[in-house]
Amino acid sequence: YDSLVPGTYDMAAMGYADHGGGTPVEHDHSAGMSVADLRGPSGTPDVTVTVTARKEGAKYTLNGTTPGPEIRAEQGQLIQVTLVNESVPDGVTLHWHGVDVPNGEDGVAGITQDAVRRGQSFVYRFVARDAGTYWYHSHQVSHEQVKNGLFGALVITPRGPRTPDQVAMIHTYQGRRTINGTPGVTALTANRLRLINTDAGPIRVWVSGTTFRVTAIDGHDVGEPPPVADRAVLVTAGARVDLHLDGPGRVDAGGGVAVATTGAGAVPLPAETVDFLSYGKSAPLGFDPSRANRDFRYDIGRRFGFLDGRPGMWWTVNGHLFPDVPMFMVRTGDVVRMTLHNGSGEVHPMHLHGHHVVVLSRNGVAATGSPWWTDSLDVNDEETYEIAFVAGNPGIWADHCHNLEHVPEGLAVHLAYA
Ligand code: C2O
Ligand code: CU
Repeated sequence: YDSLVPGTYDMAAMGYADHGGGTPVEHDHSAGMSVADLRGPSGTPDVTVTVTARKEGAKYTLNGTTPGPEIRAEQGQLIQVTLVNESVPDGVTLHWHGVDVPNGEDGVAGITQDAVRRGQSFVYRFVARDAGTYWYHSHQVSHEQVKNGLFGALVITPRGPRTPDQVAMIHTYQGRRTINGTPGVTALTANRLRLINTDAGPIRVWVSGTTFRVTAIDGHDVGEPPPVADRAVLVTAGARVDLHLDGPGRVDAGGGVAVATTGAGAVPLPAETVDFLSYGKSAPLGFDPSRANRDFRYDIGRRFGFLDGRPGMWWTVNGHLFPDVPMFMVRTGDVVRMTLHNGSGEVHPMHLHGHHVVVLSRNGVAATGSPWWTDSLDVNDEETYEIAFVAGNPGIWADHCHNLEHVPEGLAVHLAYA
């Protein structure tokens, strides 16, 4: 594998702070890269939000609710979010899932910042550069904190007159599937629906009673989306899918919850799923993946070994156990191709921070639809995806499974560059 650096990476040597609570690490700017240089812009923010995290018993809330506040901004605006940890014992951060923020704003405890301890706060600042549907969540003990409520929606709308839309955050909370925190039926108030899967596994969402279009995937518009009817849409864990319903219909997220219009029909039966590989109109990518100067493999496996001294069956990346997984090292401006292969026996929703990747092929079949830009991609067992992206956002970026239980079980690696 071109440019893989063997051995364990040393975060401290790269000038990154360690996990709060451990031994403090001096920032060594002579090492070249420092997260302090990769913060968002200064200036007067256009959108200012304070988010206060609390834990009472098993319940986690942001500003007293879960999901937390829906944050909205217009494209080009400067967003400033102050995270306050009032009572989360393990500490908390906010990661802007799907937003290509500067690395120092990425909110990954132990990599881009220390976890925010009780009584502390942290200010995030970034420009809402790309319109789309995103979400935010804690990135500290995330398998527990996200599952139990430390997340919310982030919507960036295009400049100018706004078309009404509605967010539907789908989350299984204490064994029950909910939409925007509520089990049961949620009234559909707009034709444009922003689906966000905050669960650990894929969710099939059904649309019936009307034709509809998939207008965006992971915050990227689909070119000329053709109308389809009576289809399911697969929303990968962590992913977002925007729908436009052409008329009154019913949207069903399964598990007894629905987002529905009035006069909706019967509960739909399973049928075909919209295939993003061939959906919409093909268009130039804006870069040439055949000119890639980096070519990586990301092979997901599973084997017995010791992870942090614990014996068990763990996920592996290219045969390695975390944290002895070589980072993917690139340089700014590189065109990167990556072959994701899963031979682990289970589906993994793979999420790369700070970048959007385009899907080139699945199991050898080339993509023919609208460029399928994604940041959260389900790789099923025995599947192979070829993806590509441009390295245009320096820093250290997590590239991990968004079935968040799999992260402490080893399914994480980092992409790094200056
Ligand atoms: Cu939404 Cu590293 O996660
Ligand atoms: Cu996984």
